[in-house]
Amino acid sequence: MIEADGLRKRYKDGTVALKRVSFRLDKKISAIIGRNGAGKTTLMRILSTQMMPTSGSATINGLDVIKQADEIRKIAVSIPQEARPVDYMPAVDCVKLYLAARGFGSKQAKVSAEKALRTVGLGDSMDKIAYELSGGMKRKVFVAMAIASNADVIFLDEPTTGLDPFSRVEVWSAIRAIKGQVILTTHYMEEAQALSNDVLMIEAGKIFAQGTVDQLLRPFNGLVRVESQRKKGTAYKVGSTWVSYVKKGMAKSLVGKDDIIKPVTLDDLFIKRGVNLES
Ligand SMILES: Nc1ncnc2c1ncn2[C@@H]1O[C@H](COP(=O)(O)OP(=O)(O)OP(=O)(O)O)[C@@H](O)[C@H]1O
Ligand SMILES: [Mg+2]
Repeated sequence: MIEADGLRKRYKDGTVALKRVSFRLDKKISAIIGRNGAGKTTLMRILSTQMMPTSGSATINGLDVIKQADEIRKIAVSIPQEARPVDYMPAVDCVKLYLAARGFGSKQAKVSAEKALRTVGLGDSMDKIAYELSGGMKRKVFVAMAIASNADVIFLDEPTTGLDPFSRVEVWSAIRAIKGQVILTTHYMEEAQALSNDVLMIEAGKIFAQGTVDQLLRPFNGLVRVESQRKKGTAYKVGSTWVSYVKKGMAKSLVGKDDIIKPVTLDDLFIKRGVNLES
């Protein structure tokens, strides 16, 4: 269980990346969603004890991120957003070494490393030098480390960014199989929807919503999204497209032939806030 109370982060250059956020994460898997620069990595760094907040406090399973950081590091692991193995050693050894550093015996480290690498789809490449793996494969080596770690709490900062759709599904199943609590960040609404029963929505350093996907989508119940090249009624501009929401049964009669009707997703929460999504 993770609890944050008034967490604020002001970087040296004056950027305020977190504006007194308070929340509780107690579900098996929680997803943090927000646009580039929203403050997700800042939050993950603070919770995984890699960085101090400017003010406020947080606890992981009752342990204080400031005063009990050493104890948290024993029960929690984190995969930073930019982490890639660069070692000139086989992928399987990278994972083994990591597990050994976390206190695994050598035999257990080998068994767990191989199992985790197979789970993320690197069964055939685990003997390749990590440096020689593709970008997505390198990323998966880190996901394997986290999965194999058996930690109580696992922080994954954008675990599937850069992965192909098939690999993404592989990593999703691997994440579902993790025994401990998982906190992940993502830009993919479908990823949050696929994995998590608890979604934290963050924008400009503030949390503006938290709940299950169903709860978050409740304001859109019975509506569909209509994408149009011309403005009609109450519409939100996303790039050069106008997005509006109409009752499901009305959609066919209301929309023109060039309009596109789509089911609503968590993307629509950002759109309704007037935020231009980039992807
Ligand atoms: N070391 C730093 N010094 C100054 N500003 C920083 C630093 N790290 C991050 N920031 C700023 O803090 C804000 C939040 O950044 P953060 O990395 O937490 O966002 P994010 O939600 O993880 O974005 P992304 O989806 O792009 O990874 C941004 O404005 C960023 O420029
Ligand atoms: Mg980030």
